[in-house]
Amino acid sequence: MDDHSPRDDAQALAPTPAPRVYETPPKDRPITDAEAARAAQLAANEHIKIASGYLRGGLADGLLKHATGAISEDDGQLVKFHGMYMQDDRDLRPERTKKKLDKAYSFMIRLRIAGGVISPQQWLALDDIAVTYAGSALRATTRQTFQYHGVIKSNLKRTMAAIDGALLDTIAACGDVNRNVMAATNPAQVGAHGAAHRLAKDISDSLLPKTSAWREIWLDGERVVGGEEEEVEPVYGRTYLPRKFKIVVAVPPSNEVDIFAHDLGFIAILDKNNQVTGWNVTVGGGMGMTHGEPETFPRTADVMGFVAPEDAIKVAEAVMTVQRDWGNRKNRKNARLKYTIERYGLAAFRAEVETRIGKTLGEPKPFTFTNNGDRFGWTEGDDGRHHLTLYVPSGRIKDYEDGPQFLTGLRTIAQVHEGDFRLTANQNVIIANVPTEKRAAIEALVDQYGITKGAGALRRNSIACVALPTCGLALAESERYLPDLMTELEESLATHGLAEEEITIRSTGCPNGCARPFIAEIGLVGRGPERYHLYLGAAFDGSRLSKLYKEDVAASDIRDTLDPLFADFAKGRNPGEHFGDYLIRAGHVARTVNGPDFHDRTGALKPAGHA
Ligand code: HEM
Ligand code: SF4
Repeated sequence: MDDHSPRDDAQALAPTPAPRVYETPPKDRPITDAEAARAAQLAANEHIKIASGYLRGGLADGLLKHATGAISEDDGQLVKFHGMYMQDDRDLRPERTKKKLDKAYSFMIRLRIAGGVISPQQWLALDDIAVTYAGSALRATTRQTFQYHGVIKSNLKRTMAAIDGALLDTIAACGDVNRNVMAATNPAQVGAHGAAHRLAKDISDSLLPKTSAWREIWLDGERVVGGEEEEVEPVYGRTYLPRKFKIVVAVPPSNEVDIFAHDLGFIAILDKNNQVTGWNVTVGGGMGMTHGEPETFPRTADVMGFVAPEDAIKVAEAVMTVQRDWGNRKNRKNARLKYTIERYGLAAFRAEVETRIGKTLGEPKPFTFTNNGDRFGWTEGDDGRHHLTLYVPSGRIKDYEDGPQFLTGLRTIAQVHEGDFRLTANQNVIIANVPTEKRAAIEALVDQYGITKGAGALRRNSIACVALPTCGLALAESERYLPDLMTELEESLATHGLAEEEITIRSTGCPNGCARPFIAEIGLVGRGPERYHLYLGAAFDGSRLSKLYKEDVAASDIRDTLDPLFADFAKGRNPGEHFGDYLIRAGHVARTVNGPDFHDRTGALKPAGHA
């Protein structure tokens, strides 16, 4: 673990800006020229939000247009706030274009599951939906929820009704709002994890959009019209947030939720009995960037202060509303909280949060993270209950031909399991809260269906985003490619006696960073078909970004590029030293201090005030 002290000393010198409270256009009088000029500069999505009538847009009508499997472009932006992305099968694109056919449109539907905990009954309902509407597969995501792929437009309402029937929803799972709130999963330290989960759930509930659009559109709920902005969306207003907003709750020593990759985080500070005495608050993490645009960069979050348990939700709301008011609404590529913090400085941001909560935050308390992966196999909680973490390759819960039967096996387990299921931030599944007397029966079912309880050291520390064929933004393969690459790398690691070495590896099909590749010790980011940027040198515990080691590497050259580094690591490492740390010490790659020096490959440029 390196620099975990607040990294804002130099930024504290930045002038305090006047809060730029974002004004939504008036409804009760004509808009002035000055207001019109300001509005003209706003990003297109801001206008879509304003015109949508609190996220309704033309969605209800669009669903009735049976001649196309698509919805309009503007509604395509709005539907994200309802937890959906319109997509098309990119494998089929060339063939369909040749035949002059429309694209093969379908929808990805993402659930909102605060803390990633669901009951066996909910599991069975979600399984049933997968089989009926979504190609018999569920995808456990990198943010503790499930996605369905391939739901066609004519089945959307039926799918949403079934999700509602399982007492779940998809509200705010995507879009410019607070997304699914994550929490440390493995309930081994019962008190602390219980508190983390409760906080995640409470934040999720309190920051949920209030518009009734979701119920109206998908469940034919009663249309609620009119009302003042303050009543309809008291926190968000008509324009919601400038960009997505992501919150997590972590329980040290595990950083399984990757707190430094998120806009807002809470780190449990524990007493000797593992009870939470309060939370350190982190702000300004984020992964996405754009190739060739150095003003965009990933950034790890800063530790901003400490808050008592009773004030945590107030702090969450204040951080989000400062970002609502200060975030950039003209340029979406500069709109995440990480850029707001870089622009105004952490000290000014913190001062504004303190003004809004009417209290000062405490100074951050010491804490230590050791890793950002999952603990596989069985663990026992301090209440004597048992938890089995399964390894789910790329989070795909399906039945593989001649391979593990994840879907059928977990369905069968859900029929007898009395505890709950937990999704991890690394796309894995925990069968949680198993009483001692049921442990053998659960294990027998896991084995019967060939479900994997672990994997080799590299594989169990891997994540791949979806990418092709469904993601419209993918420049290269990810989920379909990483397993083969890992087979090659495992051979290479074994040659150097490193088969059991824990190294984090993550791949994405583009630099948006859905699998958080810039905080993996080996990060592959799609550049074009079968070509990747190779990033190295991040910290094993997720606290330091990597650096670009080699541009545009052909997939076929990745093993040969990494092999000499593995060889050198095997010879030169200190006991217990991690791969990412070693590469920096040995001078293979420069150390990244934080976002602003991410693109500087020499390591000469350091953000002001950073060691
Ligand atoms: C500009 C930034 C981003 C954009 C435009 C974006 C867009 C997308 C799209 C279109 C998908 C759907 C892919 C599919 O399922 O076919 C997706 C998946 C996903 N994204 Fe992002 N994303 C961005 C950044 C991130 C980041 C930084 C994270 C996490 C920290 C994230 C988390 C996810 C998750 C959890 C999924 C679900 C599938 C998975 O687990 O890989 N996204 N994203
Ligand atoms: S990282 Fe890029 S390619 Fe991968 S799912 Fe996210 S947006 Fe798609």
